[in-house]
Amino acid sequence: MGLLDGKVVLVTGGGNGIGRDCALIAAQQGAKVLVNDLGGGLAGGDEGSAGPAESVAQEIRAAGGQAASNSESVTSLKAVEGMVEQALDTFGGLHAVINPAGILRDGMFHKMTEADWDKVIEVHVKGSFNVARATIEHFRNQEDGAYMFFTSTSGLLGNIGQTNYGAAKMGIAGFTIIAARELRRYGVTVNAIAPGALTRLTENLGGPVTEDRKERSNPRWVAPIAVWLASEESREVSGRVFEAGGGILAIAEGWHRGPTLEQVADPTTLGSIVKDMMAKARKNAGMNGQDLD
Ligand SMILES: NC(=O)c1ccc[n+]([C@@H]2O[C@H](COP(=O)([O-])OP(=O)(O)OC[C@H]3O[C@@H](n4cnc5c(N)ncnc54)[C@H](O)[C@@H]3O)[C@@H](O)[C@H]2O)c1
Repeated sequence: MGLLDGKVVLVTGGGNGIGRDCALIAAQQGAKVLVNDLGGGLAGGDEGSAGPAESVAQEIRAAGGQAASNSESVTSLKAVEGMVEQALDTFGGLHAVINPAGILRDGMFHKMTEADWDKVIEVHVKGSFNVARATIEHFRNQEDGAYMFFTSTSGLLGNIGQTNYGAAKMGIAGFTIIAARELRRYGVTVNAIAPGALTRLTENLGGPVTEDRKERSNPRWVAPIAVWLASEESREVSGRVFEAGGGILAIAEGWHRGPTLEQVADPTTLGSIVKDMMAKARKNAGMNGQDLD
């Protein structure tokens, strides 16, 4: 018995890294998988290749599972609608979407080009919207469905050099929370994962690639929570952000209102008031998830 027996799962960006492991483990748990991947470069472009998605689909079939591939881009709503049709035509259903398709175009904000801003927002934020928009009628009608979006500590906690990516990933976290509230009544869950994994996206970041880091940060540690969230066992869990990989599984706790006063009319009084509030407020978290010193 697998967690996803009888289920059909679309995995975008499934040709590499975390998406690949999500596709493989979803198939091991009994899912029929539509593996999507544009097959593009790290920084994303318009050109891609069908190779990565098809090779993961082949790997699943070789292991006795059922899989098909798709090499369109999540940046096109029409293309994602085509993925839904493909899943329905090929496997007769669609029950969950795991959406790790993503790119990076890092750089300090003062040097960032408009193209680097736009492309990262397009792939991550618009891509997440497209994936949700193209599938929601189907999920609502069957009163069942699960979305797993991908956010990042780069946005949740704030990593230098990634304003475009961090803004995109915070956008995805916000989208997740709101969509979860909207869709609860239809039996559709929406969660996000902030992964930590050694992939082509991160191999040049975060210091030396030791054997220990390779093992702890293997993308296979991210996939289990994505696959579980795709299953019916997880139906009580929605609107949450999980951190997974790099040695941990955690829930990222959201923003809360801190020290609160009555509203203030006179800006000249705010100096001491804000100083006092700042002293009482919890600090923002640093990249380790703990209060900044
Ligand atoms: N690796 C990490 O530690 C880490 C940390 C935080 C967040 N993330 C997020 O996790 C997700 C997966 O990252 P990864 O590390 O596995 O990266 P990866 O580069 O190994 O895999 C991403 C895949 O997405 C595909 N892709 C890119 N643009 C696409 C598009 N428009 N349409 C369809 N497919 C597209 C790529 O071809 C690639 O195969 C991303 O959203 C990333 O931002 C990763």
